[in-house]
Amino acid sequence: MDQSPSLSRTTKRLAADAAGIAEAAAILRAGGLVALPTETVYGLAADATAGTAVAGIYAAKERPSFNPLISHLPDLAGARRQGLFDANALALAQAFWPGPLTLVVPASPGCTVSDLARAGLATVALRVPAHPVAHAVLEAAGRPIAAPSANRSGRISATSAAHVLADLDGRIDAVLDAGPTEVGVESTIVACLDGAPRLLRPGGIPRAALEGVIGRPLVQAGEAGQAPIAPGMLTSHYAPAARVRLDADAPREGEAWLGFGPETHSHPHALNLSPTGDLREAASHLFGYLRRLDETGRKTIAVARIPEQGLGEAINDRLRRAAAPR
Ligand code: TXA
Ligand code: MG
Repeated sequence: MDQSPSLSRTTKRLAADAAGIAEAAAILRAGGLVALPTETVYGLAADATAGTAVAGIYAAKERPSFNPLISHLPDLAGARRQGLFDANALALAQAFWPGPLTLVVPASPGCTVSDLARAGLATVALRVPAHPVAHAVLEAAGRPIAAPSANRSGRISATSAAHVLADLDGRIDAVLDAGPTEVGVESTIVACLDGAPRLLRPGGIPRAALEGVIGRPLVQAGEAGQAPIAPGMLTSHYAPAARVRLDADAPREGEAWLGFGPETHSHPHALNLSPTGDLREAASHLFGYLRRLDETGRKTIAVARIPEQGLGEAINDRLRRAAAPR
């Protein structure tokens, strides 16, 4: 990969202890780039209030700059300084923060998140993650921290420090290694802009849990009459090098196999997301197993059918993006 001189740097491996957390926060305050663990995936973090720092994220990821980023805060009070919460947003935040939920709300008059991180929108995406290491870094940084998933744009999201380094070694200042992430798929994104909360991206909090709190069905983004407001959601994402064939009954000759639930056949290039059919276990393995099967060099990864319930909605969303034409 061709790298401009400003992009090339030595990537420090930081331990997730007090010293590592302090150094990560110092790098962020100085405008640098740090890959941080959250309970969903690793995020590529920068000071959200500094346009030049945020520009570094787009450069390191080679991400199209019109795609807005999530800003991370240590608590609801901090988030409410950045965005305007209506009753639905407040109920969802109180029920699920800290946790794998992102809320898109109108930016507050005092919002300090840079235009670049918001891609010029009048709204802002806010998340309070539950991971203790992320929380500690956010507290120490003392400002909103923008962080998309820590992978090259369009590639599989990173759920371990090794995945981060595979995509971004030499392009970021540090990675804070706290082991593999627990949830394994990104946060659920809900827009609360007009009294009718909209599901922009399925993720770590299942739809039914959200609907239980707001007491009504979530409007689906992209439904008739709804303008798409998360442009990044429409393109091919999470793509391995191999083609992906979904809802397969069994692997064909030469294919790698990503199974789910009990299986009778055996196969040389196979992994099973959860032999017992546990969707939480499957979500936590999804991106790592896609990477491992991609490394076998097979041209196609065939994937078993995953039920569309609970976390299955997020898993199937990511798999459909991985399988999308590109
Ligand atoms: O779990 C996660 O959410 C991870 C961790 C690191 O927090 N982050 C993550 O960020 O997945 P990213 O950048 O890969 O995905 C953020 C999505 C994008 O698709 C973007 O279009 C949408 O959030 N988004 C951000 N701000 C938005 C806004 N103001 N309106 C609508 N969509 C927005
Ligand atoms: Mg991503």
